[in-house]
Amino acid sequence: MPLYIITGANRGIGLEFVRQLVTTPNATVIATTRSTSTDDSDLKQIKASQDGSSLHILHCETSNTESIASFASSAIPLIKSNGGKVDLLINNAGINATSSDNALTFLDHPSSLTNHMNTNVLGPMSITKHFLAYLSQGSVVFNLTSGLGSLGRGIVKCTTYAISKASLNMASVHLAGHVDVMRQGVRVIVCDPGWVKTRMGGPEAMIEAEVSVKGMLEVVRKASIGKDGGEVGKCKFYLYDGSEVQW
Ligand SMILES: NC(=O)c1ccc[n+]([C@@H]2O[C@H](COP(=O)([O-])OP(=O)(O)OC[C@H]3O[C@@H](n4cnc5c(N)ncnc54)[C@H](OP(=O)(O)O)[C@@H]3O)[C@@H](O)[C@H]2O)c1
Repeated sequence: MPLYIITGANRGIGLEFVRQLVTTPNATVIATTRSTSTDDSDLKQIKASQDGSSLHILHCETSNTESIASFASSAIPLIKSNGGKVDLLINNAGINATSSDNALTFLDHPSSLTNHMNTNVLGPMSITKHFLAYLSQGSVVFNLTSGLGSLGRGIVKCTTYAISKASLNMASVHLAGHVDVMRQGVRVIVCDPGWVKTRMGGPEAMIEAEVSVKGMLEVVRKASIGKDGGEVGKCKFYLYDGSEVQW
């Protein structure tokens, strides 16, 4: 009875994760949307058509600590009644809200950096902390990052977003190496989904969400059985196709 959690699941890559994960036999899928006023019609359609797994739609504003705590208190009874283990936590919700920023202009509106850090770094880390007690041997924390967050590749665009994703990468390295996370046998992966056709990626993007998510779930599968990226204590940075990315 595998249990999966996906944040930011009403559209884009998060929705596609749900679409593919509900096909797992006997799975419990917990999908979050920002709030009760989010348009969750695509998720509801999946819920209506699913067969053999159960989809729960909960709410989480991932930049807000109270909302994260409230989401966790709704999700934990579901986790307990489905075996008590979270097999996969996908921290997918993210923003790239001031994409024209560069190294000088991002200083003109520092609140944007705060917003990106809250959503893209503190949110995923806080959500993971709330569910840590339910992560155990073989569980995977899968943080959606971006190639723009790679220091090694050094792509110079979307400065605010890039800083936040580089921070998420570092936070993930520290999470993987945390004594409790290692003792519990939890794997931590950061993954660049590629340039995907979503609202964030835009219509010019190269990859369909279906292809990206299929590749990322293969990365998860290998990590969960201790293959590539499956080394406890060491976070790995992958592209959706399973190739490793420079930090
Ligand atoms: N698409 C790409 O080419 C690309 C490339 C590299 C990395 N990524 C990463 O992949 C992930 C998914 O991206 P995407 O392309 O699917 O983006 P998207 O189409 O813009 O969807 C983003 C999702 O995150 C949710 N979200 C954003 N901020 C939130 C918040 N504060 N609280 C709750 N939910 C929030 C959105 O909810 P609402 O509908 O309520 O806004 C939406 O469900 C992100 O982490 C992104 O950085 C994407």
